[in-house]
Amino acid sequence: MAYKRTEITPGEIERQRDICARIRETYLARGIRPLAMVDTFGCQQNEADSEKLRGYLAEMGFGFTDDSARADFVILNTCAVREHAEQRVLGNVGALTHTKAANPDQIIAVCGCMVQQKHMAEKLKRSYPIVDLVFGPHELWRFPELYQDVLTRHRRVFAIDPSDGAVAEGIPLQRDKGVKAWLSIMYGCNNFCTYCIVPYVRGRERSRKPEDVVAEAKALIAAGYKDITLLGQNVNSYGKDLAEPVDFADLLRMVNDLEGDFVLRFMTSHPKDATEKLFRTMAECEKCAHHLHLPVQSGNSRILKAMNRSYTREKYLAQVALARQYMPDLVLTTDIIVGFPGETDEEFNDTLTLVDEVRYDAMFTFIYSKRVGTPAASMPDPYSRADKQVHFDKLVELSNTISAEKHAAYEGTRQRVLIDGADGRGEWKLTARTKGGRLVHLQGDEGLVGQFVYVDITGSNTWSLYGEITTG
Ligand code: SAH
Ligand code: SF4
Ligand code: F3S
Repeated sequence: MAYKRTEITPGEIERQRDICARIRETYLARGIRPLAMVDTFGCQQNEADSEKLRGYLAEMGFGFTDDSARADFVILNTCAVREHAEQRVLGNVGALTHTKAANPDQIIAVCGCMVQQKHMAEKLKRSYPIVDLVFGPHELWRFPELYQDVLTRHRRVFAIDPSDGAVAEGIPLQRDKGVKAWLSIMYGCNNFCTYCIVPYVRGRERSRKPEDVVAEAKALIAAGYKDITLLGQNVNSYGKDLAEPVDFADLLRMVNDLEGDFVLRFMTSHPKDATEKLFRTMAECEKCAHHLHLPVQSGNSRILKAMNRSYTREKYLAQVALARQYMPDLVLTTDIIVGFPGETDEEFNDTLTLVDEVRYDAMFTFIYSKRVGTPAASMPDPYSRADKQVHFDKLVELSNTISAEKHAAYEGTRQRVLIDGADGRGEWKLTARTKGGRLVHLQGDEGLVGQFVYVDITGSNTWSLYGEITTG
């Protein structure tokens, strides 16, 4: 059945915010200043969702803590992308048994991608009685109502109905203070790569309206954010579900054209539909970082086909060449899965040769993890974990060598960077990013955070650069 775009009405969100106000009054009347802890697993989409949870919680009168023992309300916003992510979540839920024993009034919620899978929600219901509230990503917009149900009905609440998902505007957001902001432009994924759980738990692709995205970007710039990342599982699908003819390159230009000094980034771009128009737009938009995260997943066309990635090795390489033609200074990063079911030594070697040819600035490498209900889960998988580990180690070694060489090439150059943090260690207290997104360690005063400065790059290693702020 075709997806029908659903929007949550402003009235519905108002109703949720009214519930927040009522909960706040109840706490105030009882003289309580409740504390919440929101622990986020997984990708930036989840980080962005946690900002909404915190926005609602702040309206309910909650303060925030990182200490689960002090929290009246603990929320784990979970990820399902690999087994390891799920094991970490379950370990953390288990550990809350102690905090709840010490404070029986503590309320525990588990939300996000992991619980949108039926078997995981059932596991929580059966084996983790300390969990009071479970809700999937599609129910986040009505989190206040769900929390109210727990408070007033004194029963466990499970809200994980399967859904294609909707678009909800007007949810209050509490962002981290700082210079970087995530800006979701779309939700869901339609690509159904055969290994991936995301389309099953995040629903169909749906775009926010360009005017809503632009208005939010404008507000972020006015609030002092200097590094804005547009987020979507595949930003190249942006606009396909909207009535007006607008694509991602158009949106990028609209945000770029806003007044102010800021860097504009985006994630993630699927190689099957990254267009020449996108590369041209990136090259022309002066605020847009010349950074492309273009996940290849494998360098072998048979594996790519089995993954349902809809491109070949050759098409991918042609895209990289085209992008570099428009942006010779392009920083290129990628994701790679090692040990997809049936991947042979020769097929893995194709990944090594592709990496050698493309020479990524940085890579995120993963060993294939079987996900319940995905097509790859029922493909024959004859190779052992140990075999896959050997491949994985080889790939990481190659990747590290290339990253170190790429970083060494920055030495002696001058870069304009944004100082984005003062949390580094020792003398190298300040952290900054080049426009291409490379991490630079600097010495200097914390008061410089949020400023663009020029630095001379004086050193480097596999992961980062070292530099000196220059006045010249
Ligand atoms: N939408 C993004 C990726 C989101 S998931 C894209 O398509 O580029 C982030 C990365 O996790 C993926 O790029 C992939 O490399 C990895 N991944 C996803 N499912 C996985 C699985 N089952 N096992 C191992 N890695 C996986
Ligand atoms: Fe998963 Fe593929 Fe969608 Fe990325 S594009 S989220 S890897 S299904
Ligand atoms: Fe994980 Fe969900 Fe993101 S599965 S990677 S948190 S979309």
